[in-house]
Amino acid sequence: MSGNVFTAVKVSEHVYWVGAIDWGIRDFHGYATRRGSTYNAYLIIADKITLVDTVRAPFKQEMLARISSLLDPRDISCIISNHAELDHSGCLPDIVGMIRPERVYASTVGARVLKEHFRFETDITAVKNGESISLGNMEVACLETRMLHWPDSMFSYLAEDHILFSQDAFGMHLASSERFDDEIDPAVLVCEAATYYANILLPYSPQVLKLLDQMPGLGLKIDLVAPDHGPVWRRGFDEIKDYYRRWALQKPQKKAVVVYATMWHSTDLMARALAEGLTRSGITVKVMPMEVHHRSDIAFELLDAGALVVGSPTLNNSVFPSMADVLTYLKGLRPQNLIGAAFGSYGWSGEAVKQLESYLSEMKIQLVGESIRAKHVPDADILDLCCDLGSKIGEELSKRIE
Ligand code: FEO
Repeated sequence: MSGNVFTAVKVSEHVYWVGAIDWGIRDFHGYATRRGSTYNAYLIIADKITLVDTVRAPFKQEMLARISSLLDPRDISCIISNHAELDHSGCLPDIVGMIRPERVYASTVGARVLKEHFRFETDITAVKNGESISLGNMEVACLETRMLHWPDSMFSYLAEDHILFSQDAFGMHLASSERFDDEIDPAVLVCEAATYYANILLPYSPQVLKLLDQMPGLGLKIDLVAPDHGPVWRRGFDEIKDYYRRWALQKPQKKAVVVYATMWHSTDLMARALAEGLTRSGITVKVMPMEVHHRSDIAFELLDAGALVVGSPTLNNSVFPSMADVLTYLKGLRPQNLIGAAFGSYGWSGEAVKQLESYLSEMKIQLVGESIRAKHVPDADILDLCCDLGSKIGEELSKRIE
């Protein structure tokens, strides 16, 4: 018994998964990862044994143990860094120091970003878009995929095994004992891939569309897509590609998301009345009080919505903190093609609703109707107004979709 409990998992004829499973992570730079994650690294058994990406620093030993189940890590000749973010490069300096590879490859931007992060003394070999890396008996082709997810990002492709290493793209935060998509409940895959898209890739939807349009012309035969998070796509890649196109296009659906905070349930009453009006006009509504939802839940629901309706009480002349949080987050994700409205209760000054309007306008969300404010507690007239505003938003949304 060696004590090494971690093993590599064969992915294709020449490729093994040697990554790490993070069962416990629940926050990935602000995104709630309720099913954990994986940091995938892959080992290509070529003349020049090559490691594709590494793992987050605390998981270095797990990755090394999985590599050691196959070979001595010091036999690795090359490392290809497809993405410089620290969940894939965190242990790169230690690994480079330990195995002293002949070459570390990254995109032209990646070579600079890795140097900036780690002050490497080792040279990083920059590969240009479309260039190939020789592994002796095989070649790995490199394709820049800027902004998917960072400016440095690139894909690499091993023609021998028809496998595309896609770093963050087509990935998901999902810790699992299974390594392939066809071993996991498809509903979980779509849910986690959508959550990942909404929270990580949404701002880069134009680049996603460009990539999807470009892929057929590259003439790559792809049997496997190996991202840096979640399972390897062995069966369902075409389906997930279709989902990516849909998510990137952000065509509004007959769905509204009502997000609000409440102090003494006045704004809550208004949200419920708005939801009734939306429902009456045939719109699916998700009512999401920030007391019980995480900002990334809202991003997920907004992915296929056509309207964002936001509510807040005024607290100390300001919008409620949880609403400032979620709206700051959503603004950064740059959702497109939404209409919306603002509402809220107040006691004396009542600035919150104007501030909500400003957020919506910065997000280029077209306001429907007049915003509604209720002093202290909404009376029957105010609740009727909320219900009417909900119906108006629903009608406007239906018109846009028809
Ligand atoms: Fe999984 Fe952009 O890092």
